[in-house]
Amino acid sequence: MARELLPPHVAGYFSAAAGTGAGLPEGIADWSAIRFRPRVLRDLSDIRVATTVLGTPVSTPVLVAPMAQQLAAHPDGETAMGRAVAKHRSLLGVSTNTAVPFADIAATGAPWWFQVYVTRDRSLTELLVQRAVAHGARALLLTVDMMALLSPTVNPRFWPDSVGKARMTNLTADELAAAGPDATEMDLSLTFDDISWLAQLSGLPVLVKGVIRADDAAECVRSGAAGVIVSTHGGRRMGPSVSTARALPEVVEAVGDSAEVYVDSGIRNGEHVAAALAMGARAVFVGRPALWALAARGEAGVSDVLATLTTELAQVMLQLGVSSVGGFTPDLVASTGR
Ligand SMILES: Cc1cc2nc3c(=O)[nH]c(=O)nc-3n(C[C@H](O)[C@H](O)[C@H](O)COP(=O)(O)O)c2cc1C
Repeated sequence: MARELLPPHVAGYFSAAAGTGAGLPEGIADWSAIRFRPRVLRDLSDIRVATTVLGTPVSTPVLVAPMAQQLAAHPDGETAMGRAVAKHRSLLGVSTNTAVPFADIAATGAPWWFQVYVTRDRSLTELLVQRAVAHGARALLLTVDMMALLSPTVNPRFWPDSVGKARMTNLTADELAAAGPDATEMDLSLTFDDISWLAQLSGLPVLVKGVIRADDAAECVRSGAAGVIVSTHGGRRMGPSVSTARALPEVVEAVGDSAEVYVDSGIRNGEHVAAALAMGARAVFVGRPALWALAARGEAGVSDVLATLTTELAQVMLQLGVSSVGGFTPDLVASTGR
């Protein structure tokens, strides 16, 4: 439905994946390839899908990933997304490149985490972070896997000519103009040390998004991260990347109980969510399923996606013999990936 409604360059931008594009379907297939070892004779009279994420209570472990350019999907953008998230007591990731004012997003009542791209002129990042904090963001998602906004491996035919212009609109035109032409480019000098800079600046927990290696995950936590998000950016980082279904176990093992691990990229149904929880994820994020739904049917569409994934998860839990999110353990999974 969304594809029919959207201009081709917007639909192209939403669906784009790096390189040949095969990484996204392969990532989905790796989630589907997981085999479960269901339990029997557990008391399943009360199935609970509620949990907490960095201490915030949520009614579902299905959260919405930060995605830029949501006004190109729907005139209400993150406001509609946030209303659906609030209705289901989920949580919203908000992109640095949202074109909706933080105040409007906060007014939806959805708990939200602010996604940070660190800019070459760090004073811009500081301003954005301070504004997000002032509007109630509860954590920062420091995205580290997209060091060029315009990845050369994304098919340039699909890269936005107009959607991409809505960048950092929570800064004023004056602030952006004063910072100069290259100020909003990615800061390529970013290192692990910058995690504590952001934590101190914001007073918020920092999750590092885009980690797919055990050594990186361990170093993030040592450097002060409250957790990591195992992500291939929905297949947008690089085509021949390991999938998140394959990367999750080593990251969980490296992090242990010292921080929270989240995962996204290619999660499309309740079985995928259950697999991620069994493999040690605290919760999952969905990107495109929520974005396409927003484009097709606005708030009601996103609401349906969150309701469907959550209902599916509860059904899978019945079949698996798991009554609560805390009851997921790695032995429920027989094989991780193909
Ligand atoms: C259109 C689009 C825009 C995105 N923009 C951002 C962004 O601004 N910041 C970010 O950290 N991730 C961004 N992402 C990545 C998502 O946060 C998430 O990692 C990914 O969509 C999950 O994969 P999935 O779409 O297969 O569910 C974007 C993804 C899409 C599809």
